[in-house]
Amino acid sequence: MKNYIKTDEWNIIEEGFDPHLNKISESIFSLGNGRMGQRANFEEAYSGETLLGNYVAGVYYPDKTRVGWWKNGYPEYFAKVLNAANWISIDVNIAGETLNLHTAQVTDFRRMLNMREGYLQRTFTAELPSGKQVKVNAQRFCSISDDEAGAICYQITPLNFSGELTLTLAIDGDIKNQDANYDEKFWDEVTKKVYQDSAYITLRTKKTAFEVCTGMQFQVYQNDQPLALSAEPIQREKYVASRVTVPVEQNQETTIFKFAANLSSENYPKDKLLEHCRALIQKITRKGYNQMLQEQAQAWAAKWEESDIVITGDAAAQQGIRFNIFQLNQTYTGEDARLNIGPKGFTGEKYGGTTYWDTEAYCVPFYLATADPQVTRNLLIYRYKHLQKAIENAEKLGFTNGAALYPMVTINGEECHNEWEITFEEIHRNAAIAFAIYRYVQYTQDSAYLKEYGLEVLIGIARFWAQRVNWSKAKQQYVMLGVTGPNEYENNVNNNWYTNTMALWCLEYALEVITQVKANSPDDYAGLVQRTNFQEEPETTKWQHILKNMYLPEDKEQGIFLQQDGYLDKENILVKDLKPANRPLNQKWSWDRILRSPFIKQADVLQGMYFLEDRFDLETIRRNFDFYEPRTVHESSLSPCVHAILAAKLGDEERAYQFYLRTSRLDLDDYNNDTEDGCHTTSMAGTWMSVVEGFGGMRVRNNQLHFNPFLPAKWQSFSFKIRFRGAILNVEISQEGVLLTNFSGRAIALRVYDKSYDIQANASVLINPNEAAPN
Ligand code: BGC
Repeated sequence: MKNYIKTDEWNIIEEGFDPHLNKISESIFSLGNGRMGQRANFEEAYSGETLLGNYVAGVYYPDKTRVGWWKNGYPEYFAKVLNAANWISIDVNIAGETLNLHTAQVTDFRRMLNMREGYLQRTFTAELPSGKQVKVNAQRFCSISDDEAGAICYQITPLNFSGELTLTLAIDGDIKNQDANYDEKFWDEVTKKVYQDSAYITLRTKKTAFEVCTGMQFQVYQNDQPLALSAEPIQREKYVASRVTVPVEQNQETTIFKFAANLSSENYPKDKLLEHCRALIQKITRKGYNQMLQEQAQAWAAKWEESDIVITGDAAAQQGIRFNIFQLNQTYTGEDARLNIGPKGFTGEKYGGTTYWDTEAYCVPFYLATADPQVTRNLLIYRYKHLQKAIENAEKLGFTNGAALYPMVTINGEECHNEWEITFEEIHRNAAIAFAIYRYVQYTQDSAYLKEYGLEVLIGIARFWAQRVNWSKAKQQYVMLGVTGPNEYENNVNNNWYTNTMALWCLEYALEVITQVKANSPDDYAGLVQRTNFQEEPETTKWQHILKNMYLPEDKEQGIFLQQDGYLDKENILVKDLKPANRPLNQKWSWDRILRSPFIKQADVLQGMYFLEDRFDLETIRRNFDFYEPRTVHESSLSPCVHAILAAKLGDEERAYQFYLRTSRLDLDDYNNDTEDGCHTTSMAGTWMSVVEGFGGMRVRNNQLHFNPFLPAKWQSFSFKIRFRGAILNVEISQEGVLLTNFSGRAIALRVYDKSYDIQANASVLINPNEAAPN
């Protein structure tokens, strides 16, 4: 755990330069706009420890799988969103010396991420080995309104000399992924062009043949006037640059604007990439840095208008939640159904920028409530488009008749993960995809989605579960053998309660949607039956039979569901009995020891109770919570949020708050000692859920919004915005009660503390919890 980020409600601030923290800060101060993103590397040269990172969404490379022992069914490759050309580079040379914060004496260093307006700023004074001093103010952003573009404003002032600055403004495409399996470089050069004040380079990924054209143009100003400089073009393999020499006077500021763009062949014909890239570069250069920055601030204001959470009385908590919301909005904007949300967003290479169940299980509620419904719809369509691949994936494992197993890790629908216990066994991911469809339709009432796309996915998933279970003669029930539940600290277990329960839920939901689509849209249903070769008889009869005869492990004596058949055979020790030196287990213990231990990585039975909470009474949830939480080490960032929500539901406000703290500043305080690899982007949505579903008690039930809020003791108030079926609602919880404000032109009926209220268009209602008796 670190504690070096300054507390501020709208900004992330680092003061003083500590090279040991640099990789952590590079992750935390990352920028993105949904289409591209980058770590907070320095513009000028840096020879200290750094993880260079620039990413273009959707552009990946199938890195050949590396395993010790090959198993049939393993994917051939792990797809990685590639580290792409570095467009921020501005090399500063002063009379033969390079400005490099690793070799210079750095003072007054300050790095700031302005979340309100969406830019990164860095200021410092550096003394070079020769004693020459410069002051630098560097600002940059990835534009939301021109989402293939970024811009830099780099200001440099000599403090104790006059002379010349030699500036090299480059695009460096000679980039390697740190996580390359065979130490290969993934890019080939296609073309490059260097002009006086601009340069372009097109690179092609090996094997996948995506092309990305990166362009840049720059301007140099002194005294608010552009300088007419003659530039020296520089090129070498996968590298283009322009070099200028600028005369400078002591204390005179020189401003460099660098405009850049990344265009990918996913969006343009390859032979037109350069042309489009040049047009965009010209457009943004004409627009100018200040105008672009102003548009950026407006675009972010619109995002905050819809998604901000305001906490008063606790600046650290305020900063934490805003940071999470900021990173989520930087990662996914929902305009392109080919894109998804990698667990690290654009902040690092780990997890390869690929899609996990994290999207459906954790991110969907955030985007549903804070963005246009189309954003979540696109996340669902992403999986719809991968249905055929999911069917092929299941076929590879021996399933038939259109059974679909979605991958644990994917970018184009094919499975990328290659640890047998996860690839073949962590099949609960299928249920999260079905559950996201349910959540979306329940939230938006877009039932058209079901007949057009959703039902086809649900049938594929239901078919998978129907084949994956088997009849146990001994038990005279269906069982599901050899699985890994969400708790990855035990593998190849039988009858994981969560997986069995969610499988049943999927069958039930598929049956319900079949009935609905058949009744309301018989023609669409007939088309779908034909397309999927769906035989209602015998398929649904088998599903019904499974529903009635599935085995779900439980311990009646303790009144708990069993994580898996053998769970109670494990040694009965609790997390509190573990010595701190043993944590985190996954770094300190052998895998063998972890697998045999009772320790749980993340919510498992409790994940099921969270998803299906209305099926269980409070006492059942409490018994399971009290049994499993003390055995849970929360070594996945996805764990604390589910516990925060359940603790809040159980009325344990203090514990809910403690769990929230673990998730909200996970990266800012480097809680798990791994932020240098990148931020935990998908779990940031869990943080949002802890506030809105945990402290706010928000649920959608019986077609209505419900709130059951409480105010954490440390806070004076908190408020969040929710979009719900055309209405925009602000919910503010303070000592005075719950203030609901409807910002939209339509009235909304909802329930607070189990009592009904109508909030008229553009009106507010203040509810005092003591007066809110149930009706
Ligand atoms: C968790 C998974 C998760 C993955 C990516 C793992 O540590 O156990 O549930 O999908 O990280 O976030």
